Amino acid sequence: MQGWLEQKALLKKGAPAEITRVDWQKSFQETNSFYCECYRYFHFNLPSQFKEHRKYFSVERRGFGEDAFHTMWFLLFREFKPARFLEIGVWRGQTTSLAALNQKWFGIAGTVAGIAPFQPSGDSSPFHDAAVDHQADTIKNFNAFHLPHPKLLKAFSTDAHAIEFIQSQPWDCIYIDGDHEYPTVKADWENCAPAVKVGGLVVIDDAGLDTGYQAPHFASTGISGPSRIANEIDRSTFQEILQVGHNRVFQRLK
Ligand SMILES: C[S@@+](CC[C@H](N)C(=O)[O-])C[C@H]1O[C@@H](n2cnc3c(N)ncnc32)[C@H](O)[C@@H]1O
Repeated sequence: MQGWLEQKALLKKGAPAEITRVDWQKSFQETNSFYCECYRYFHFNLPSQFKEHRKYFSVERRGFGEDAFHTMWFLLFREFKPARFLEIGVWRGQTTSLAALNQKWFGIAGTVAGIAPFQPSGDSSPFHDAAVDHQADTIKNFNAFHLPHPKLLKAFSTDAHAIEFIQSQPWDCIYIDGDHEYPTVKADWENCAPAVKVGGLVVIDDAGLDTGYQAPHFASTGISGPSRIANEIDRSTFQEILQVGHNRVFQRLK
């Protein structure tokens, strides 16, 4: 109820101003209000295709996430135009298909890939309906938006062939959203960080603890494993450039 009232109050404020690259600095200084701006931007400023995409994934347990994250991906694709995108932890393809939708929207000739076991595992297990084949469903969900199919690897991110795949090409952007336990997120970071191009991005989900961010009631601040990793990252090799709620974005410097 409180979350619903908070959302209603934000929507009452209407459209926010454009969010420029310079404004991203506010995501560290005023993390809560920046998050709320991203929430309003989703509702008032994003093209309707992106809102329809979020609506589609908000039902039948098709996706996790928060409206403001659609804004984050829109801002990142507009700014960096990532052509090679990899997601660790696909679920039913919300973020992989959102990456493909952004590539289409911004005219980026790119590819999208995802690594997941596509079976009950990790902290999302309790939500997994074994009757749904998540791999086939991801493709079905791409089809629903007429998007080119992703490359999907059925594996745990720490499996040898998954690590080989991660290291097989220089990525422009990797999203780490698989198993949220500290040892796995640490391994994901260690495998992904060197696989991203200089200037490329690594985005870590559920990493908002100990950042000063206090999620509104309709959102979540994060989980200890990913938050700890995000706080441990060597800032001389990766610069933190944006935080939208519990999602934190790091850019490779060298
Ligand atoms: C929170 S869901 C991801 C949601 C997805 N990113 C989205 O935007 O809809 C976590 C996913 O990670 C997967 N997973 C769990 N352990 C994993 C691992 N070790 N490697 C890769 N994926 C994993 C789960 O099966 C699940 O699909």
